[in-house]
Amino acid sequence: MIKNLDTVYNDIIFDELKRKNAILTAGDKTIGFNSLTVSWGGIGVLWGRDVAYVFVRKSRHTYSFLERSESVTLSFLDEKYKDSVQYIGTHSGRDEDKMKNANLSYTYDPDYDGAYIRQATYCFKMKKLYSIDLPYEELPSDIKNQYYKDGDLHTMFVCEIRQFLVTEEYNELH
Ligand SMILES: Cc1cc2nc3c(=O)[nH]c(=O)nc-3n(C[C@H](O)[C@H](O)[C@H](O)COP(=O)(O)O)c2cc1C
Repeated sequence: MIKNLDTVYNDIIFDELKRKNAILTAGDKTIGFNSLTVSWGGIGVLWGRDVAYVFVRKSRHTYSFLERSESVTLSFLDEKYKDSVQYIGTHSGRDEDKMKNANLSYTYDPDYDGAYIRQATYCFKMKKLYSIDLPYEELPSDIKNQYYKDGDLHTMFVCEIRQFLVTEEYNELH
């Protein structure tokens, strides 16, 4: 992967990001890594920093990795990996080596002590800044009924975007 922080970054935020699901990976060398597919979230600016907001339910195995580590990546994969992205979003790392079963692998970055999906076309390398549970009582009742009947709440994680990586192939095409 190579670094590119300007034009491709904008294209992705305002175009591709809306249409694709990403794979979030959390962890570090000591505790290992786990990933899940995410489709809810956003990119913005907070406290003068570029940030991503992601929403992860407490029941997810990845949640415990998010709690215990600082490194968080969001990896975006080409359409040809659709089945792999779906697999990561429908199986738990609690039960199996789902990366292997989804035919995906990690690239570990030792300076950052984090990992992203090797097959990704582009990826955000981030550091966790802050997290807060969605306040159940304050949510609109239709949202509570639709999404939180079982009490499995989302926690919002605010992550600072430290680096944006794209593959050389992507850079050549755009
Ligand atoms: C398209 C798609 C989008 C998803 N988006 C989210 C999300 O934004 N937040 C979340 O907590 N779970 C989301 N999920 C569910 C998790 O990816 C799924 O429960 C996963 O198996 C959890 O894996 P884990 O237990 O190894 O963490 C999504 C699943 C799919 C298929």
